[in-house]
Amino acid sequence: EAEQALARINNLQDLSSFRVEYLGKKGKLTQILRGMGNLPAEERPQIGQLANQIRAYLEEEIEKKRKVLEEEALNQRLRDEVIDVTMPGRRHYRGKLHPLNIVLNEIKDIFLGMGFEIAEGPEVEWDYYNFEALNIPKNHPARDTQDTFYITENILLRTHTSPTQIRVMERQKPPIKIIVPGRVYRSDAVDATHSPIFHQVEGLVIDRNITMGDLKGVLDVFAKEMFGPQTRTQFRPHHFPFTEPSAEMDVSCTTCGGKGCRVCSYTGWIEILGAGMVHPKVLKHGGIDPEKYSGFAFGMGLDRITNLKYGIDDIRLLFENDIRFLEQF
Ligand code: PHE
Repeated sequence: EAEQALARINNLQDLSSFRVEYLGKKGKLTQILRGMGNLPAEERPQIGQLANQIRAYLEEEIEKKRKVLEEEALNQRLRDEVIDVTMPGRRHYRGKLHPLNIVLNEIKDIFLGMGFEIAEGPEVEWDYYNFEALNIPKNHPARDTQDTFYITENILLRTHTSPTQIRVMERQKPPIKIIVPGRVYRSDAVDATHSPIFHQVEGLVIDRNITMGDLKGVLDVFAKEMFGPQTRTQFRPHHFPFTEPSAEMDVSCTTCGGKGCRVCSYTGWIEILGAGMVHPKVLKHGGIDPEKYSGFAFGMGLDRITNLKYGIDDIRLLFENDIRFLEQF
């Protein structure tokens, strides 16, 4: 019976069960040996010898079978795990920084080099910080021009990074010297130059005796480091409720091939930021005494600066995440 059962076995697991079934502690042959006590004394030696012969024989046969099965299993594995070295390889794409991050890193480096620190504020903001504290009360016409996404009556998506000015003033005494990079939102229709999501880098400097001369000096150095030493800047009078006086700064189009280059206007200048001396009311809202301290602030458009730097003529390219575009940086 054991020989027949063994002949049918074709894997190592069954072989192991077979050994237990016949030779194990409660195995069939073991039980025969245990039952020997019931035999007449004269039959015991004969039966005992026979049982031991059978045991030795089965052990031998199991061992032979095990060798055969192990070899088969090994051959099967070798067949299964064959590697076809003629198959084409899989291409691994290397990750890259997004152009907005490349340019933001440069902007951070330039301002860190001038002793600025980096601060951040929330994108979901209170009306108070986005408008009220920045001297833009309810019904102020400047609110209309901002095309705000409201979440509730008092909560909105920030339309600029300026609310962080107030948040930093609230928690830090002068001297303050920070930049605030971040995403901002306005409900504009999408076209080559507008996107409902874009990016700004805010700047705020507050200390004793800060003047418009400091503002112009810092921003002119920034422009030359960003776009090259041949770059010129010009400041045009402007109006923001939270600065007085206010200005917009243009850079010369020398960076992108001069007048009328792909991303620059035919005047030869392109506007990259708004700026001004922090309004005394804004300092007060931040808990800072305008009699003791003065400061300047600026807000630049990161998307515009990135496009200018790389000659990109459509802001949508920055948000579509087309690999063919992103690969080029
Ligand atoms: N917050 C202004 C804007 O979004 C930019 C600005 C910042 C102007 C700081 C002056 C001072 O257009």
